[in-house]
Amino acid sequence: MLTDYLAHNIDALVNKIAEHGFCVIDNFINEADILALTHEITTLNDAEKMQIAGTGRIHKAVNHQLRGDIIYWLDETNASNAQQAYFNRMEDLRSNLNQALYLGLYALESHLALYAAGASYKKHIDRFKNIDQATKQPLRQISCILYLNQNWLAEHGGELRLYLNHDDNLTSTAFIDVLPVAGRLVVFLSDTFYHEVLPATQDRMSLTGWFLTR
Ligand code: OGA
Ligand code: MN
Repeated sequence: MLTDYLAHNIDALVNKIAEHGFCVIDNFINEADILALTHEITTLNDAEKMQIAGTGRIHKAVNHQLRGDIIYWLDETNASNAQQAYFNRMEDLRSNLNQALYLGLYALESHLALYAAGASYKKHIDRFKNIDQATKQPLRQISCILYLNQNWLAEHGGELRLYLNHDDNLTSTAFIDVLPVAGRLVVFLSDTFYHEVLPATQDRMSLTGWFLTR
């Protein structure tokens, strides 16, 4: 049940991350900021400034079969008011996670994302556990996805399917589906949870962030 993983404040969120490795929190930012972010996506898309997303930090191969969204990387030093509201909330989250769980999260990378109706992102993991650390690249530790879709209904689809059994067994059936409703933030350990984005009947917007560790 999704309700088992719903937290009503950041303290509760941190506890659920410690317990389950993932959590969902609603109303993470206010409606005016959500609306502003959706307008930013529309404007960026109209200006053809959204880019086709690659997969993987090192092999940025474009593979539309795997991943159908277009994205725009945010620059915190050049943030709009709505982006700044998001960054402030994320900073609060980062310091709470570090204090409680000693994760050593030191930075955030984030992008706006637009999945046109019908687009999806096949089952994947945001970071492989056994990644070669010789390169000393920063690693994604915590994935956070903020949904921006006002008036989103179950019949619109576009769920995030989060697999709970911690492996890549394609026949696995243990998962939860999270509807991408405006203001909802999903948080999970980047190296633990396989997940996918199911196709939607409408354009689907989000702001995805990863807290990095060294
Ligand atoms: C991702 C991702 C999920 C979502 O960007 O890596 O898995 O629900 N996004 O948008
Ligand atoms: Mn992902």
